[in-house]
Amino acid sequence: MGAERLALAFNINGVDHEVEVEARRTLVDTLRDSCGLTGTHIGCEHGVCGACTVLLDGLPVRACLMFAVQADGRRIRTVEGLARNGAYSALQQAFHDHHALQCGFCTPGMLMLATWLVERGTPVDDDELREVMASNLCRCTGYLNILKAVRDVLDGESG
Ligand code: FES
Ligand code: FES
Repeated sequence: MGAERLALAFNINGVDHEVEVEARRTLVDTLRDSCGLTGTHIGCEHGVCGACTVLLDGLPVRACLMFAVQADGRRIRTVEGLARNGAYSALQQAFHDHHALQCGFCTPGMLMLATWLVERGTPVDDDELREVMASNLCRCTGYLNILKAVRDVLDGESG
């Protein structure tokens, strides 16, 4: 007998999605496999690396640590929703301009975490910026260019 499947609905990047998934299905697998949104990456699958970071009702979450059912009826933003009409968001442009990615594996999660920080609209000093961005792991860049990119957008120097 197959496992019970649940009918769930989310709004992802402004678009309504209805899916049927097993209760044990994670949010990140559901985004990638059921919704076709493969921009959100899967790294460690246990909440350490942050590659799977998305915004859930405006707050960053690790989509590998959530079951899809926990996001039922909620608003999700993923990296696919950042560019508008073919134009990068200010953060995407700043990552490009500052060479803030190498392999790019961490980049979707970094961008979503930084989007939350920028849109939060409160002052962010360099210590807090480092602390927040250090919660996502990057094995390539050494972080400095990521910090420069986010700092520029926080300071209104990009976009
Ligand atoms: S894949 Fe979710 S935190 Fe690493
Ligand atoms: S750019 Fe490769 S892990 Fe960050």
